[in-house]
Amino acid sequence: MLTEKQVKEVVGEITDPFLNKKLSETDAIKEITIKAEKQHISLKIAVAKTGTSEQLSLQGTIVEELKKAGVQSVGLRFVEFTPEELQQYRAEQPNTGNLLTSPNAPEFIAIASGKGGVGKSTVSVNLAVSLARLGKKVGLIDADIYGFSVPDMMGITQRPVVEGEKIIPVDRFGVKVISMGFFVEDNSPVIWRGPMLGKMLTSFFTEVEWGELDYLLLDLPPGTGDVALDVHSMLPACKEVIITTPHPTAAFVAARAGAMALKTDHEVIGVVENMAYFESQLTGEKEYVFGKGGGPKLAEELQTELLGQLPLSQPDWNEEDFAPSIYDESHRLGKIYGEIASKIAFICENEKAATGK
Ligand SMILES: Nc1ncnc2c1ncn2[C@@H]1O[C@H](COP(=O)(O)OP(=O)(O)OP(=O)(O)O)[C@@H](O)[C@H]1O
Ligand SMILES: [Mg+2]
Repeated sequence: MLTEKQVKEVVGEITDPFLNKKLSETDAIKEITIKAEKQHISLKIAVAKTGTSEQLSLQGTIVEELKKAGVQSVGLRFVEFTPEELQQYRAEQPNTGNLLTSPNAPEFIAIASGKGGVGKSTVSVNLAVSLARLGKKVGLIDADIYGFSVPDMMGITQRPVVEGEKIIPVDRFGVKVISMGFFVEDNSPVIWRGPMLGKMLTSFFTEVEWGELDYLLLDLPPGTGDVALDVHSMLPACKEVIITTPHPTAAFVAARAGAMALKTDHEVIGVVENMAYFESQLTGEKEYVFGKGGGPKLAEELQTELLGQLPLSQPDWNEEDFAPSIYDESHRLGKIYGEIASKIAFICENEKAATGK
């Protein structure tokens, strides 16, 4: 006769037809009674809805599997999950298949720039966190395969867990994050080339268990190189936010990234001017240390909106929960990021409502 543990093992492996999860994962086995003398096992199983064809099919499978394991007779009783349980398991339900082709694909937003060091990654991580603060479901792909920086910027110390065939992204401040940095040892440089790059990027979309997302942000590598191009061709419907510094030449270079976006039919939804000025804490005076006018000029050139201008300032560091590049909600920049995030959400949601998609 099977022991309770063995029954759990056998039945736990069976998939719930409603939730598409193993019964062991949803804690669906509520009771097990074993009557050894009668070779009988009775079970209480929770399902999403009783009295359905799904229940019937599950019933059949359970009986079949237990009989295969040598049980003579099986008694089954079904109860319904509580709404809380159901919500929990539904929310975690795998987004089966490919995020790129899924009908409920999130809004993809790539953060691009013409050149390096203008603050793409800083803006990416803070926008992601700010969108999450607005209650959105947010994912972030650090698509800078060689020069990944997102894990350090967000202070991520864990690594993603692999479950079956899928990689579970790391959750940080309500943002699901994936980065090449999670898959290299000891901060060693990544020397993959050519096709591997595209492959890596593809697997970030297809092999990562993103679950349900409203927004998936992509922190692009600088410039208009191969990864940027891969992203452009891989994501037919991608929006872009272009980052520039206020210097007029920076805006020229950024315009190239914008032109690339437009060529690949990506929609530039706005420009963010970073390092826009330095504001003295003492006098409140603004100094335009990196020049002036680059952001508005670029926005005009790309016929898009200037979403915001971020001054020079570092986040307040917190030793207990170290995330060196994340601005607090109450920080001067945290508030500007909040405004930019709201604008982006507004643009995307309006467009969705207008196109009915
Ligand atoms: N508004 C700001 N005030 C102060 N420092 C900033 C600001 N924005 C970015 N930085 C700093 O500038 C540096 C470059 O920023 P970041 O790494 O975000 O740029 P990037 O465009 O992603 O660079 P790369 O092209 O190398 O990927 C970082 O050290 C970052 O902390
Ligand atoms: Mg970067």
